[in-house]
Amino acid sequence: MTVVPVYLDYAATTPLDARVAARMREVQTTAYFNPASNHAAGRQSAAVVLHAARQLGALLNVEPATLIWTSGATESNNLAILGVAKQRAHRGKHLITMRTEHKAVVDVFRALEKQGFDVTWLPPDREGRVSLATVESALRDDTQLVSIMHINNETGVVQDIEGIGKLCRPRGIIFHVDGAQSVGKVPLDLGSLPIDMMSMTAHKFYGPKGIGALFLADGTPLEPQMFGGGQQRRLRPGTLPVDLIAGFGEAAAAAAQTMDDDLAKLVALKNQLWVGIRDIDGVQLNSPETGGYPGILNVGVADIEGESLLLALEPLCVATGSACNSQSQEPSYVLRALGRTDPEAQSAIRFSLGRQSQQAEIDYAISSYRAAVEKLRALAPGAAV
Ligand SMILES: Cc1ncc(COP(=O)(O)O)c(C=O)c1O
Repeated sequence: MTVVPVYLDYAATTPLDARVAARMREVQTTAYFNPASNHAAGRQSAAVVLHAARQLGALLNVEPATLIWTSGATESNNLAILGVAKQRAHRGKHLITMRTEHKAVVDVFRALEKQGFDVTWLPPDREGRVSLATVESALRDDTQLVSIMHINNETGVVQDIEGIGKLCRPRGIIFHVDGAQSVGKVPLDLGSLPIDMMSMTAHKFYGPKGIGALFLADGTPLEPQMFGGGQQRRLRPGTLPVDLIAGFGEAAAAAAQTMDDDLAKLVALKNQLWVGIRDIDGVQLNSPETGGYPGILNVGVADIEGESLLLALEPLCVATGSACNSQSQEPSYVLRALGRTDPEAQSAIRFSLGRQSQQAEIDYAISSYRAAVEKLRALAPGAAV
């Protein structure tokens, strides 16, 4: 029997939008050529790629030429951080990031530390935000790069990327933002924000997996991290996956159309979920009280292990740590950085909602969560009989 899951794990990945799937199928049959080929068919595929860059550029208010295609946000983060750190190493080796970044940023900086770079790891406050004063006090004459994510994948906290960019720009410090959880989900005007680089990925907003992009503002110094053919101004060589790129572009166009409705719906559903569980004894909110991204609600509950809760909640699909860390039983380093204790962090469940989420699914999630907490408490040693 196939179990029909109730999917509340949109921060891990999203289903393909029907418009995206249709566009990809069309391109797979009509424009599967190599966009670098110097013949009419190749030019047809190159036009498909350009159209997608225009769609994504329109969503973000940037020129198509500022977008470099990659395999996803992991690769974009690697390219951005390694590419600037190495290009600028002769000027200084001080780099700044946050303790609560995704592993695809944290581990890049850890690798750079091993190569002799000096990394400052900024702490968040209890809600997960980094203050501008904290960022400013970390800036030094030899600082070359600041990398701070926009929306946190575990808690939904939103950083003040405009404020941080304004601190970096006059000092000539390159500012990179991991926008994997924000592009296509919240309004972003990269044409006016003081941001030099932003990582993004299609599968977090109803596009295909395996395709991402790095926004690179004109004049940003970047050393390539891969070598091969001369594609994409040699910054990221390799034959372009035309169908994935076309899907990415279509996902961006769909996002531009439905973003306001999506956000309004998410606000209502997240509120419904929180109101439905907040009175449970020992429940702790790990997402910010106000101002967080409405698609993510992270909650802990006293005396219960998140992994047991996850099993008890099936067929509800939710997450403990981020999907990439979910194989590990370690408490989330993100929640630990927010000041949660090990048991508190270990009890956390991340509910993440999306375009297809329904009120009935939230009702189901509320009753499942309440029942699972009750059941696990009754099973615990020392429980009243
Ligand atoms: C904040 C953040 N950065 C980077 C990534 C990695 O993205 P991708 O799966 O496209 O490599 C993710 C995905 O989990 C993410 O949430």
